[in-house]
Amino acid sequence: ETTTLHLHTAFTVDTVDPRIFGGFLEHLGRAVYDGVYNPESVHADDMGCRKDVLAALRRLNFTAMRYPGGNFVSGYHWQDAVGPREKRPKVRDIAWQSIETNQFGPDEFLELARRMDWTPMMAVNLGTGTPEEARNWLEYCNVDGGSKWADMRRENGYEEPHNVKLWCLGNEMDGPWQIGHIPAENYAILAQQTARMMKMTDPDIELVVCGSCAPDLPTYLEWDRKVLEHVRDEVEYLSLHRYVGNEFDDTEEYLAVTNSIDRQIEATDAVCLSAYHTRKTKRRVHLSCDEWNIWYRARHGEHLDGKGKYAPHLLEEQYNMEDVLVAAGFLNSFIRHADSVKIANLAQIVNVIAPIFTRGDEMFLQTIFYPIEMYSRRRTGTSLQVQVQGPGYTSKRYGKVNYLDSSAILNGDELSVFLVNRNLNEPMEVEVRLADAPIESLLNADFVAGTDPKATNTFEHPHRVQSCTHDDIAIKNGVATISLPPLSVYAGTL
Ligand code: AHR
Repeated sequence: ETTTLHLHTAFTVDTVDPRIFGGFLEHLGRAVYDGVYNPESVHADDMGCRKDVLAALRRLNFTAMRYPGGNFVSGYHWQDAVGPREKRPKVRDIAWQSIETNQFGPDEFLELARRMDWTPMMAVNLGTGTPEEARNWLEYCNVDGGSKWADMRRENGYEEPHNVKLWCLGNEMDGPWQIGHIPAENYAILAQQTARMMKMTDPDIELVVCGSCAPDLPTYLEWDRKVLEHVRDEVEYLSLHRYVGNEFDDTEEYLAVTNSIDRQIEATDAVCLSAYHTRKTKRRVHLSCDEWNIWYRARHGEHLDGKGKYAPHLLEEQYNMEDVLVAAGFLNSFIRHADSVKIANLAQIVNVIAPIFTRGDEMFLQTIFYPIEMYSRRRTGTSLQVQVQGPGYTSKRYGKVNYLDSSAILNGDELSVFLVNRNLNEPMEVEVRLADAPIESLLNADFVAGTDPKATNTFEHPHRVQSCTHDDIAIKNGVATISLPPLSVYAGTL
């Protein structure tokens, strides 16, 4: 049975915001120390950052990079981490029970962001921090000089303002585990005060307010509604977070989770639209899915406890082939919802639930690296509505799904299609039909496929799962027929 992907150049969703290809670097485990930054490494550059890791990160071409946390930020005082390194205090991070040396701080991060061409997305501490501390940090970063905090930046060697345009008002403040967690109304007031003071300091910034960080929390969506009512016109984005996993070891079921990612985006957007249409907010607040990934194997007990150590092994999830399809599923969902999702950050980038993994001076690319690279290369343009006709199955928790999960981006006369074959055993023939324009040729295409859903990459076998060039395509009468192996992800430009 053939599967058809129906598209039309006039049936658009919206321009794909490049920031949906964002990342997240938290002071957590071996993400910053040992991952990105290690002056002792043979790979260290002039900043002490690992050249091998940065080269791999460059391939993913991240846009917005969120920093410094995460749960970490809710106990973080930025002043500890600027100025001469020998004067920076060593502090206890109670979120991850670790030791934070502050040897890598905001100035180093922002220097790295410049070199990597990342758009910095900084989160302020609304757990133990105050609106004033947040505002001071903004002055430190963005004001030219002539006042206390701006001059402090200059004294620390950064004459030019860092000009950080995107800021998050705390992290996951709805989560009972969060340092300083408070009820929605209290958070909303704190966020509103902070937002106002920050915009009085620099009116050109954009702000992300904390929405619900998981659909299974009892305050899901109610939290969002209350927060939007209070912050009213001060914020541009509402955050949502999503981590998924194959806890029941049922691959078909797991691959259908994309349905619930769609529902979470649509439900959260509905709250934003409702706030706008009932005049609670002056503008339509858009979505920032600023933490997303697969995270369930290294999510409990010792994986969360740094035991008072520096750079402990935490959240070191090892990804497999089935995760490749789910990572692609997240990206498909963001592209399909280009009208509402404007920012999305893969959590995280190195070692901690990440596409890149290090041990000493060695490194390998985890399975999920490949779909992100394949999509990111083809991310420019306008998202098209996708209509799939073809066989599928019914999942217990998520309802009906097509075997094909897809998205499409039109860029001038180039069409990129992103196809996921969720069928574990059968290949799939996908007819791509662009109703009002013939498809004439293939420009380039890559795919990742595997027969074993549990196949992983390791230091010993780093290339078990990787992307390859794809050329199994026939183009006839303006219709492209693409052959996909079972359990595969395809990205091609036609
Ligand atoms: O990304 C790991 C953690 O997940 C973050 O610190 C937190 O915000 C979320 O719960």
